[in-house]
Amino acid sequence: MLFRAIAVTALFLSSLQVLAAAEVNVLSSRQEFLLRPFLERFEKDTNIKVNVAYLKKGLLERLQQQPGAVDLVLTVDIAHLTKMSDAGLFQPHGSSVIVQNVPVQFRDVQGRWTALTTRARIIYHSLKRVKPEEIPTYEALADAKWQGRICIRSGYHNYNVALISSMLEHHGTDATRNWLKGLKANLARKPQGNDRGQVKAIYEGLCDLSVGNTYYMGKMLTNPDQQAWAASVGILFPNQEGRGTHMNVSGGAIAAKARNRAEAVKLLEFLTGKHAQYLYAEVNHEYPVKSGVGLSSIVRGFGSQQPGIKNGTFHQDSLDLTRIGARRNEAIRLLDEVNFDQ
Ligand SMILES: [Fe+2]
Repeated sequence: MLFRAIAVTALFLSSLQVLAAAEVNVLSSRQEFLLRPFLERFEKDTNIKVNVAYLKKGLLERLQQQPGAVDLVLTVDIAHLTKMSDAGLFQPHGSSVIVQNVPVQFRDVQGRWTALTTRARIIYHSLKRVKPEEIPTYEALADAKWQGRICIRSGYHNYNVALISSMLEHHGTDATRNWLKGLKANLARKPQGNDRGQVKAIYEGLCDLSVGNTYYMGKMLTNPDQQAWAASVGILFPNQEGRGTHMNVSGGAIAAKARNRAEAVKLLEFLTGKHAQYLYAEVNHEYPVKSGVGLSSIVRGFGSQQPGIKNGTFHQDSLDLTRIGARRNEAIRLLDEVNFDQ
């Protein structure tokens, strides 16, 4: 009897250990305030402990140096996802849940990464000096009419490289080179600063147009020091009549050497599900990838001055992100050729 009691206790303890051992190690370039709202829910729902290492830059190097330490990677931009994937640092998730939740243009068909939120790269225009109808497309940024009126961050920043890559995919090399030359000729100053810095420059009257990501509007609107910048501009979703506005992503992937693969897949599935999708998108003013998930009230207001845009809904370019990633080197070569930042 005593022996049986000991055996049962031992069994109970060992099963507790198994439960306690369920964990997943995340390497994230996304900040803690973005992940916190839904990671707690995941831990509660699944009993899987989530350990997160936050790292602003150098995820690829970290994965190479400590391969077994990471199960799931969370990052932004197609360039980062493609680079790590090409370096063999990801493995296919093999999940039909993810395939169902994420539209095909926003995930690797082999399952090595998936987008989790999307952001549009749009044109910010001075509400005072430019009507949205005046600048309907990215292509129009090269029109001589805008000479000395455009501000932009470095052409080599990943966000701009992806936009140029999409131009390459749609128009080919020669047309994209000419477009870059035209855009450069229209700049009010050398490329510099970040996306919000360009909006500040519009507010200060240095320029009338800039190129930037949508969520920065949300960040400025919720930052008392930047609300005046936000109030001076409107969001213009380019190419609504044609192919749609260029999109980029934040994403996630299963590390090639994941020790807790099953738990990592579960977390990635959770991140593409309805609950996490709303929270993940809302907290950084982004768009959910899963269809049918609502937009936050701030995001619904984006583009409200633009004819045809209602409740923040706009026509998105459905170009496959994998093809954008593949054009990266060519885009950088063109930037060199036209001396874009000089
Ligand atoms: Fe950003």
